[in-house]
Amino acid sequence: MSVRRLAAEQPDSFAFAPKTMEDAKWWIAKYPADRKQSAVIPILWLVQKQEGWVSEPAIQAIAALLDMPQIRVLEVATFYTMFHLHPVGKHHFQLCGTTPCVLRGAEELKKVCKSRIGEKFAVSPDGLFSWEEVECVGACVNAPVIAIDDYYHEDLTPEALEALIDALARGEKIKPGSAIGRKTSAPEGGPDVLKDATLYDGSLAKPLTLPNLPEPAKA
Ligand code: FES
Repeated sequence: MSVRRLAAEQPDSFAFAPKTMEDAKWWIAKYPADRKQSAVIPILWLVQKQEGWVSEPAIQAIAALLDMPQIRVLEVATFYTMFHLHPVGKHHFQLCGTTPCVLRGAEELKKVCKSRIGEKFAVSPDGLFSWEEVECVGACVNAPVIAIDDYYHEDLTPEALEALIDALARGEKIKPGSAIGRKTSAPEGGPDVLKDATLYDGSLAKPLTLPNLPEPAKA
């Protein structure tokens, strides 16, 4: 896990947009008044959706909103890689660099990110892309994985990643999920077991009978 620090260059101020504040209040209302700091993660997320990243003035504003020390908000923001501590491109790639993904080709994907986007955390000159390496994103079965914006792209090859970058550069929407058509986390090529269609069509759902069930009540 790399050290995560706030960006060297920070804006002078931060202000909640009206919709962000409305949503933040919805989250705060979910918790007892003396536990409103429990809303810190969703509010950090809302702020990131508003600004694209989490700045120091935003952390200060969140701390004030939740009556909690700034250091506590900073601890959360720096712990979770889902929070961007630097400005990012319109599309931010989080490439998993943990062992299962490396064994399945993450290093090759990293080369594509470097050649097509640039160095880690740098925003591409057109402002469209940025990337970073993160620890396991919990989808190891479908390694190698890159989270692009809010969605996972799995079973990636360098060619599949290039195609995703090309599509985003053309302004197209990209389909998340497995690049090889894997269904959820089933084996490649489809499931090997539990293939009987009657398992899924409801035909086996008969009323349950047990030997010691009471007799139905007589009218
Ligand atoms: S190691 Fe990459 S998703 Fe778990």
